[in-house]
Amino acid sequence: MIVDKDFKIAEVDSRIYGSFIEHVGRAVYGGIYEPTHSTADALGFRGDVKQLIQQLQVPIIRYPGGNFVSGYNWEDGVGPVEDRPKRLELAWRALEPNYVGTNEFIKWAKDIGSEVMMAVNLGTRGIDAARDLLEYCNHPGGTYWSDLRIKHGYKEPHKIKTWCLGNEMDGPWQIGQKTADEYGRIAYETAKVMRLVDPDIQLVSCGSSSTAMPTFPEWEATTLSHTYEVTDFVSLHQYYGNRDGDSANYLARTMDMEHFIHTVISTCDYIKAKKRSKKTMNLSFDEWNVWYHSNDQDKKIDPWSVGPPQLEDNYNFEDALLVGSMLITLLRHADRVKMACLAQLVNVIAPIMTEEGGKAWKQTIFYPYLHTSIYGRGTSLLPIVDSPKYDAQDYTDVPYLDSAVVYNEQQEEVTIFALNRNLTESLNLTCDIRSFEDYQLVEHLVLEHEDLKAVNTALEEKVKPHSKGASEIKDGYVSASLAKASWNVIRLKKIRK
Ligand code: AHR
Repeated sequence: MIVDKDFKIAEVDSRIYGSFIEHVGRAVYGGIYEPTHSTADALGFRGDVKQLIQQLQVPIIRYPGGNFVSGYNWEDGVGPVEDRPKRLELAWRALEPNYVGTNEFIKWAKDIGSEVMMAVNLGTRGIDAARDLLEYCNHPGGTYWSDLRIKHGYKEPHKIKTWCLGNEMDGPWQIGQKTADEYGRIAYETAKVMRLVDPDIQLVSCGSSSTAMPTFPEWEATTLSHTYEVTDFVSLHQYYGNRDGDSANYLARTMDMEHFIHTVISTCDYIKAKKRSKKTMNLSFDEWNVWYHSNDQDKKIDPWSVGPPQLEDNYNFEDALLVGSMLITLLRHADRVKMACLAQLVNVIAPIMTEEGGKAWKQTIFYPYLHTSIYGRGTSLLPIVDSPKYDAQDYTDVPYLDSAVVYNEQQEEVTIFALNRNLTESLNLTCDIRSFEDYQLVEHLVLEHEDLKAVNTALEEKVKPHSKGASEIKDGYVSASLAKASWNVIRLKKIRK
């Protein structure tokens, strides 16, 4: 591998380390919010969960959905809690008590140092509800909705900058599913009106729900032909799973993610050309993760309870490797992917799990997310890689070495993120870093395990990183041995002489 400080992809937008909290399962009720928990704050939010999220340094959190938002009346979630209605929540067939709503969530996010990416309901609602919510959140005062916010105890405007225009509107499962032209029109009109309320906001137009959608990428082309000039981002969503137990194929899934990103960029640029536009559309990969372990279990859950244990994937070691590879893929596209959300954050397909009245604990996928969020800030550099390759069931020429490199000029640090996809053999890495004079090794973190299926639980953290990776630097070259099936973080720093 060759890494040079001049091979710049782009500055990493820290918002690619975003995440997502939806009103589904135990994400809110029994997750971030548990008023009877010993660590709960005055509003009922768990302090131990807050601490784990703060460790991850999550810059932005999408809320309140997801599928949930397409049936949500935001007005149900503001004002005195005792007056809030209980509703049948139809996306996930649960009971929504509305104990947590817009103000509580925004306050919670601010407390932990995160911004909110707010989604508006373009399923059952539309322009009217969206403009009212924006006025309620962002207008300083002196109008019906902003004064109502003040009456509810929030004098200062929330200044929510990023807004999603609906969620997965191409999906048959979505409440209020739309054709591409129907969505394009309503999203355009909603964006236009929202910008009149607050011209400083940034808007996300809904892309396809995944690469598997039959309308991908025509959906992007048609919807963007309506929304291109009034939005800043198009969304991408993708979940992977190892349903047939073929781990070599599973670890190659990011080849599909790579193709997804390329196709969306090409489609955006095609619309740009068609419109003779000067503007470049950025990508918001605002739902991504592994999701499959809990699918069968979820079919057995009875409807209409508050906070049922839905979408509770217990992640294993190989899932952490794939999540690491997905993060590497995002970093390598730092020039166009400016936001991304690991979906989700607590209990629901999440890096953090909670026990009712008990512990909050870390799943296997917590670690690659932690490492990239902490060490992956700066400029993403393009590593020139010459790696042995393999063929998998769905992909050919899959490089065993998957890597991204981030240069933090201010801190004078370089971090190499490297995944060895080889399940049986270690990989010897030689990395030319001669353009970084006087850089020395700080540490080589490794996530490895004999058993690809090893999981963490509240009682035992079987999968956790160690810092005993085998690396050395000599004459401007890093030599490292990357253990079979391993996630590696090789950290270098300039030595002050
Ligand atoms: O994150 C879980 C669900 O996945 C979201 O609600 C939806 O947008 C997607 O299908």
